Amino acid sequence: MDIDTIDFLDPATQENPFASYDALLTQAPVHFMPSIQAYVVSSHAAIRHVVTHPAIWSIDFRARPDAQLIKTPRARALLEAEGFPRDTKLTTDPPAHSAYRAAVAKAFMPARVAAQKAFIAGVVDELVQGLRGRTQCEFMRDVAWTLPMRVVTRLLGVPAEDADRIKHWSDVWVEPLAYGLSEERELYVAQEEIALQKYLVAHMQSKLDNPGEDILTELANARMADGSPMSLADKVGLAEHLIVGGHETATSALGSGMMILAQRPDIAAALRTDPSRVERFVEEVLRLESPSAGFFRVAVQDAELEGVHIPAGAMVHLRFAAANRDASVFERPAELDLDRPNPRAHLAFSYGVHTCLGAPYARLELQEAFRALVLALEDIALDPSEPPPSHIPGLSLRTLKALHIRYRARSVRE
Ligand code: HEM
Repeated sequence: MDIDTIDFLDPATQENPFASYDALLTQAPVHFMPSIQAYVVSSHAAIRHVVTHPAIWSIDFRARPDAQLIKTPRARALLEAEGFPRDTKLTTDPPAHSAYRAAVAKAFMPARVAAQKAFIAGVVDELVQGLRGRTQCEFMRDVAWTLPMRVVTRLLGVPAEDADRIKHWSDVWVEPLAYGLSEERELYVAQEEIALQKYLVAHMQSKLDNPGEDILTELANARMADGSPMSLADKVGLAEHLIVGGHETATSALGSGMMILAQRPDIAAALRTDPSRVERFVEEVLRLESPSAGFFRVAVQDAELEGVHIPAGAMVHLRFAAANRDASVFERPAELDLDRPNPRAHLAFSYGVHTCLGAPYARLELQEAFRALVLALEDIALDPSEPPPSHIPGLSLRTLKALHIRYRARSVRE
């Protein structure tokens, strides 16, 4: 493949990017891609180098006009006039980043995660019961969108019945990640973001009188390292980040994992025989179908990566999904291997100071879900009467639009 023809904005490449990843990894692990005006970094080693040197490779490119996700001036002005600019202070570099991460980190401590295990298992059980008594479902709608949203609402400390509203806001929020929205659509995105921000402000306000063990209570009381209160705009930005970060990606992994089970009855059978292997299955799903396919950094100074000179100010696109198929780290990288010696070496959750905070919740959700699903369902297959599954267009996220499957529900004694 001619690497100069590879374009991550091309819908066909987005649907099936794997040949392009192979080509980039073998021919040019650091390669300038004109359509996104960035050097695509594909190798595992180079990505790890970038994310562990934040003084050279900054995550903070919020001020750059070409990096604004909401691009049209009218939509940006609307957001700034009636809400808060789209901004999350987790997208800053150390040392500032540490205070913002600390403001929400409590909710991600092992004891707090373990305390949610029964809740997550309960939601999974409810969803799996909903699949019984039927022989087919649209898995994204019936399971994959619901579980992460229920978990996020629980972690934030907002009513469970608001999950659908929050899911809608989250879906609209990520639309600009697909690039190329019309001005009209951007104005709609801005309006919905303002509604979400107002909702978050109202809930944080009420947490001051009715505190709980949840993220909005912690944000409502959040302070900076010097003891001064965190600004409302910063609190709202963090809450928005948690909603989107905690939802779309886990949904995506649930869908991808189920698609693999529908295509690989041997893997489903292996997990059913030994459910303890579900942990390894989850890591392989994250590696092979990386929900966060790639994110950006900016070079603060002239630098070199894999022998390629990168001028100060240039953007780099860290293609986690490609690095997760780097043959120098993963033997037979395209194969799903439940016996891999390094199952957690993938970069699906990134690495370094911005490593995914929510990874323990994501793993718990995925493990509980797939364990219950393989034990409850058998003969899982793609529904032949529906079109083959395809993904929502996008540069950064990889999520199935829909996943129609057929199955046989096992009796509880099987
Ligand atoms: C399968 C599910 C998930 C995947 C694949 C994923 C992936 C990622 C990745 C790749 C990053 C780092 C971005 C970078 O380095 O530029 C990240 C950061 C983050 N994720 Fe996740 N995530 C998942 C689930 C979650 C969940 C469930 C939550 C919260 C409940 C969450 C919250 C966050 C936050 C807050 C950050 C920013 C951390 C920081 O900048 O310090 N994620 N995630």
